[in-house]
Amino acid sequence: MPEATALDLPRVEPIDPQHMRHVLGSYPTGVAIITGRAADGSPLGMVVGTFNSVSMDPPLVSFMPMKSSYTFSALRESRTFCVNIMAADQEGVCGAFMRRENKFEGVDWRESPTGSPILEGTTAWIECEWSDVIDAGDHYFVLGAVRELAAERNCLPLLFFQRGYGRFTPGSLMASDYRSLAAAIRTAECGRQEMELLANELGMEVSLLAPLGDEFAFVATANAEGPSHSTMPGTRLPFVPPLGSLMVDHPGAPSRQDWLDRAPHTSREVREVAEIQLRRVQERGWSVTLSGEVNSRTLDELVDAFSAPARTPENEQRLIDALQRMAACHEPADIDPTAIYSPLQLSVPVRNPEGNVVMVLRLSGLPENTSGTEILDFIHRIRQSSTAIGLALPHAVR
Ligand SMILES: Cc1cc2nc3c(=O)[nH]c(=O)nc-3n(C[C@H](O)[C@H](O)[C@H](O)COP(=O)(O)O)c2cc1C
Repeated sequence: MPEATALDLPRVEPIDPQHMRHVLGSYPTGVAIITGRAADGSPLGMVVGTFNSVSMDPPLVSFMPMKSSYTFSALRESRTFCVNIMAADQEGVCGAFMRRENKFEGVDWRESPTGSPILEGTTAWIECEWSDVIDAGDHYFVLGAVRELAAERNCLPLLFFQRGYGRFTPGSLMASDYRSLAAAIRTAECGRQEMELLANELGMEVSLLAPLGDEFAFVATANAEGPSHSTMPGTRLPFVPPLGSLMVDHPGAPSRQDWLDRAPHTSREVREVAEIQLRRVQERGWSVTLSGEVNSRTLDELVDAFSAPARTPENEQRLIDALQRMAACHEPADIDPTAIYSPLQLSVPVRNPEGNVVMVLRLSGLPENTSGTEILDFIHRIRQSSTAIGLALPHAVR
């Protein structure tokens, strides 16, 4: 194709600034406050949506101030500047920095070694020396050479989109998902009576779990002593090996291939173990987890952070990593009737009349020293309850 020159291009109408602002508002950005010191030492700060990471080697970042910015003209006198990345709960701080005067009033901050204000409560800060200030239309393009940087809080960032503030939501926590969860909780009510009977008889906790897209969730819990925090309805778990194997290949849950593909790609061995465990679960029709390397309190905390509306991708990864460290505690090859185990949970599928697995019935709070014979007896007992719950399912789920 011949190279086009500016002369070859057809003439176009000048771009209407309002239209440009509207169209470019469709691009979401993070929000940062650039701080520094005026020549008289007073602290300065301005809100920007144009902060960007530019280069790793050498470490460079950028932002674009308006040429007309009064604050920026003073900021240029500062020895260094500091980029403060705003957290989702810091909309109020941005409001303070949009004032003309007294921007730091009511805002907590400390000094960096070179004197730049570091605002408290941000997700991260990056202190820079001036590297370049390049002319860019009615803005400057500022390049900063990174001197020091730190992540402060593992929390969601503040975002700006179509002239409004908002926050990041993981795809799996979309609003439609909440409706599916509410429907699954209503369905699970049909198992309430049977679950309470079982919980009282065994003195343990009995829960129902249902698939929810990429995840599955606790949808009902019965416990004579009240449900524990980590099994409250609405608590979520990822459909990542070794979890959720009883539901794999059934409606609303991932296919076998999909589920195996979700195993962390650390080694072939991880996938092979997941494959073996899935086969065992499908052949036996029950699942068992023994307690292991990650203590149950840590696990509960990770599950809690994963289930929170303010879940970060990092929280997601931490849970998946911990589950991987526990993979060997899932689905042991044999349960020796004479051996003593420390089981975390036993689960069986709840099937509709077509044989599809629609939920999982789970027994937890088992005694620390449980013999193999007792484990097999418990499985037999929860199977009876899962059959009863399957028969009580509302017609829509059948
Ligand atoms: C979310 C958000 C993003 C902004 N991004 C920029 C930006 O990238 N560059 C800029 O010059 N001003 C930006 N502004 C506007 C400035 O914060 C400020 O209003 C402007 O610099 C004029 O203030 P001054 O003359 O008092 O310094 C942004 C404002 C908001 C609320």
